[in-house]
Amino acid sequence: MSQTIALAGKGGTGKTTVAALLVKYLTETGKTPVLAVDADPNANLNELLGVEVEVTLGEIKNELRTAVPESMARGDFIEMRLNEAIIEAQGFDLIVMGQPEGPGCYCAAHAFLSQALEKLMRHYAYVVVDNEAGMEHLSRLNMRKIDHLLVVSDASSRGVMTAGRIAELIKPLQLEVGKVWLLVNRAPGQIPPALDDYVRQICAEKKMEFLGYLKESPEIFEAEIERRPLLALPKESKVYQEATALFERLLSKGA
Ligand SMILES: Nc1ncnc2c1ncn2[C@@H]1O[C@H](COP(=O)(O)OP(=O)(O)O)[C@@H](O)[C@H]1O
Ligand SMILES: [Mg+2]
Repeated sequence: MSQTIALAGKGGTGKTTVAALLVKYLTETGKTPVLAVDADPNANLNELLGVEVEVTLGEIKNELRTAVPESMARGDFIEMRLNEAIIEAQGFDLIVMGQPEGPGCYCAAHAFLSQALEKLMRHYAYVVVDNEAGMEHLSRLNMRKIDHLLVVSDASSRGVMTAGRIAELIKPLQLEVGKVWLLVNRAPGQIPPALDDYVRQICAEKKMEFLGYLKESPEIFEAEIERRPLLALPKESKVYQEATALFERLLSKGA
């Protein structure tokens, strides 16, 4: 059985950063094979993982409407193209959703593709899904069963409140989430007690479990500026050590 961990949160809070650190943690601790899924239309998880994307699922879906060769059964064609969309890297694979189709298009291509994706996911020990703020792809692609939903917030009261609202989207999106976590990212060295109190209050109200703080990190800042993938962060780096402690806690609590 594979475990699915999905990232959620407002834009710019650090979902992709945390997703990349999580993929690094899972691969380096042998919790493999890992499938990383970039479900943000403005995909950039691949950059933090240091891999190139050739084709996205969205592109394949468009192709399916027009370009299925006569001689090839649709199912075979989809499987072939899906395999081409899987980027194989060291210890993990990556698949990129790309742009979703317009509203109301739940066409046959879409159904085929989500089925194929569901089948594919079973081959991995862990599936890490980086999302856009609205988590639209999760319900669209029938990725409704999520073991851990990790909501990322910035270190502000308003941010934490927004994270609480995002946790409330689970119901209308009909997601089946085992456990909802809150991670407060880019936290200052000293956590203001008022913030800490508020975090715990919102967690209790919105039925989230508080995973912890990830500090503002000069190592991430530098990697970003120099466009270095986060996978290349040294194991000893402070932020990676901190993230590792958080991920260990998350995985130790079965969903
Ligand atoms: N703990 C951190 N310390 C320093 N910079 C961070 C940290 N987490 C994220 N960032 C930076 O914040 C910006 C937004 O992060 P990103 O992961 O792209 O957010 P999201 O995917 O939620 O939009 C990026 O420039 C990233 O490098
Ligand atoms: Mg992102």
